[in-house]
Amino acid sequence: MTRQKMKQTIDIETLGLKPEGLPKHIAIIMDGNGRWAKKRLMPRSFGHRAGVEALRSVIRTASDIGIEVLTLYAFSTENWNRPVEEVSGLMQLMVEYLKREARALHENNVKITTIGDLSRLEGKLIDEIQWATELTKDNDGLNLNIALNYGGRDELTRAIKKIASALDMGKISSEDIDTALVEEYLDTAGVPDPELLIRTSGEYRFSNFMLWQTAYTEFYFTNTLWPDFNGDLLVEAIRDYQKRDRRFGSL
Ligand code: IPE
Ligand code: IPE
Ligand code: MG
Repeated sequence: MTRQKMKQTIDIETLGLKPEGLPKHIAIIMDGNGRWAKKRLMPRSFGHRAGVEALRSVIRTASDIGIEVLTLYAFSTENWNRPVEEVSGLMQLMVEYLKREARALHENNVKITTIGDLSRLEGKLIDEIQWATELTKDNDGLNLNIALNYGGRDELTRAIKKIASALDMGKISSEDIDTALVEEYLDTAGVPDPELLIRTSGEYRFSNFMLWQTAYTEFYFTNTLWPDFNGDLLVEAIRDYQKRDRRFGSL
């Protein structure tokens, strides 16, 4: 039995999924919270809170079916351009989320990690992240990877700076630079590329997410707004993915 199969707590064939070729890594651009709230004549913050509920269902399903890594785009480097009240509301929501959920995630063997430049975040959010990642670091179930103050261009720029300083210090030489080395300097070092990227809310763009890692990723776009997304819809996306013919430039 493969390691992945051992981690499944439900029979995935009953969900119409094939055990072989299940994506190891799924990335999600969780979009549409604001529009979801607007439709209900509620403030955008209401949509963000509802988005956390969707998160719970998606994480549970991903964990149950044996997905290894789930990367969630929670806050982009461009999201700082939103009104200050919305930004601080989102930061507060993330602090509350980790405070409230990290223990339960830990009990479910979930390992919490982050990508993105954490240095610009508020101290209390950094503290919560450090606590949650430390608490869960030895877990070998689902890796819940949260992209916070993350931008694909920022990640590549930081990687280039680190490579340049390794060159300066003589730790590497320019001949050592190849795709494998670049990957070691990305925030996702050691994590397989996502096979499937889901974006909710009917927007057909990347918004600066995982530019390097998605070179051969399959995309799944849905009009569903993020707060209406859930574990069943995640399974539907994986079913769609499993019908695809991935050729990687070959025949
Ligand atoms: C996604 O929902 C959440 C974040 C970007 C943090 P939005 O807030 O972008 O919602 P819409 O796209 O305005 O509906
Ligand atoms: C992408 O959504 C970022 C996150 C989901 C965190 P946005 O709503 O910020 O992206 P744009 O503005 O529609 O491109
Ligand atoms: Mg949006």
